Amino acid sequence: MLHNKKKNRICLMVTLLLTALFFLRKGSNDNKIKFTFYDPNNIKQIPAEIIDQLYLEAQTNQHINWKRFAYVTYVSDIQYLCSTLLAFKSLSEEFKTKAKLVLLMDQTYVLGSNIHNSGIDDLLTQLRNIDNDQVIIKPIEVISNKIGTEYTWSSSYTKLWAFNETDFDRIIYFDSDATIKGNMDELFFLPDHIKFAATLTYWFLSKKNIDDLVMDNGNTKPLHGKLEKLKKLISYKQFYYNELPDVPSSLYAHSDNILEDLADATDDSITYILQKQINRETRGQLIMASDLMVITPSTKTFQYIKDILIPRAFEEENKYDMDLLNADLYNLQNTVLKQIQTFRTDSVSFKPEVMILPFDRYNLLTGTIKNVEQYPLFNGGLLGYSLHGQKRENMDVLNEIVEKAKYIHYSDNPLMKPWHYSAFYGETIEQSLQRSEFKAVCDNIDFTSAFQEKACLEWNSVYDTFYRRSRICPRNSPVEIFFPERKVSTHTKSI
Ligand SMILES: *[C@@H]1O[C@H](CO)[C@@H](O)[C@H](O)[C@H]1NC(C)=O
Repeated sequence: MLHNKKKNRICLMVTLLLTALFFLRKGSNDNKIKFTFYDPNNIKQIPAEIIDQLYLEAQTNQHINWKRFAYVTYVSDIQYLCSTLLAFKSLSEEFKTKAKLVLLMDQTYVLGSNIHNSGIDDLLTQLRNIDNDQVIIKPIEVISNKIGTEYTWSSSYTKLWAFNETDFDRIIYFDSDATIKGNMDELFFLPDHIKFAATLTYWFLSKKNIDDLVMDNGNTKPLHGKLEKLKKLISYKQFYYNELPDVPSSLYAHSDNILEDLADATDDSITYILQKQINRETRGQLIMASDLMVITPSTKTFQYIKDILIPRAFEEENKYDMDLLNADLYNLQNTVLKQIQTFRTDSVSFKPEVMILPFDRYNLLTGTIKNVEQYPLFNGGLLGYSLHGQKRENMDVLNEIVEKAKYIHYSDNPLMKPWHYSAFYGETIEQSLQRSEFKAVCDNIDFTSAFQEKACLEWNSVYDTFYRRSRICPRNSPVEIFFPERKVSTHTKSI
């Protein structure tokens, strides 16, 4: 009897195997039936050219309903209202986006009967005047730390309210302490299965990290051939996802053989490893930036952030929004582990939800412009890859670093955000602006080479943009006066 059962089982398995083989063979003969699994072992980086091509495909293949999309930012500190106005004006008037422009704002400012500040009223009016249909000002309750006495740091959690913007299929969240230099609508057309995309925090890489990653003895892979292949696959509407460049696992994995460890693990032990990773200190590892994020809003994700993550973060000091997302939801290593776990449960329906954007276009820090150490990274915008497989001259990078960027974040530790300054080295901003070339701090750094002089001019031009444009904001809004330290470190550790 037992023997028979065993025999039957073997028979059944052989039949299943033959059936599977039949379908696989059939698949390889007929493209329409061909089935490929999504790679669960990696997180993919999407090149700028491919994002553009997906947008082009969307434009030719479908009628785009722009009501489904929005740019979202938040204001909990009134200083950000002016930079929001500048950003929305750029997006709407200069770059002609048709997506909505949503401002999440502390309700006490919008509804505030107890706050009489004509500066704020004036800015809100100017915002609405951009386009009354397009601009949406949403009062929200700013999260504050109910336990401690510190208030300011907790307000950065407010940006996580963007996950609750479920009126939209996809949003581009951005911090407004930045200058927006191009239309970013193409980001709305990332693959549908991607629920979250952001750049990597390239500025956390040390000089040694960078050397290891890009020097001659490094292992950067040329991107060019990949681009051609990807473009072809997309234009023939074929499966292209697995061809996208991987994030090198050395940038985020805690050990080199994490994937090998997992190969033999049972589902239970994966859960265990996941749990261990979540509780683990992740500093020093490369993480995702939270100053520009492409998000598929979701009530479920938002509830998780609001009810689980934020209360947990309040118990620990010095947790910022970036840490919050990276410690849990979008930690790169956890993401890969979750992908593998989901794949094991149901490999057929598994689809990755996280993707990495090119940092050169979507996240240039102002500090980088003057920081030559970071230049070797700028070679196609993806870490571990280079556009043509070879190193680039610093001057070539400098010639396009500002021009290529669509989003430049004012981040110049120890300088503060530009609106904190009304003068540099004894000259008021207004006096500086009278000259054709604005000069903020470069005068006081020993710039001897043509390269450094140009780097300084490029850097100044980004500040010039802010100060010239911010003249439309009311002058009676509070401005702190600071004179920066004479020696300015260009090493940017935080944003
Ligand atoms: C989240 O969005 C829903 C639907 O718009 C809204 O009813 C709810 O109040 C929002 N939650 C918070 C905490 O703002």
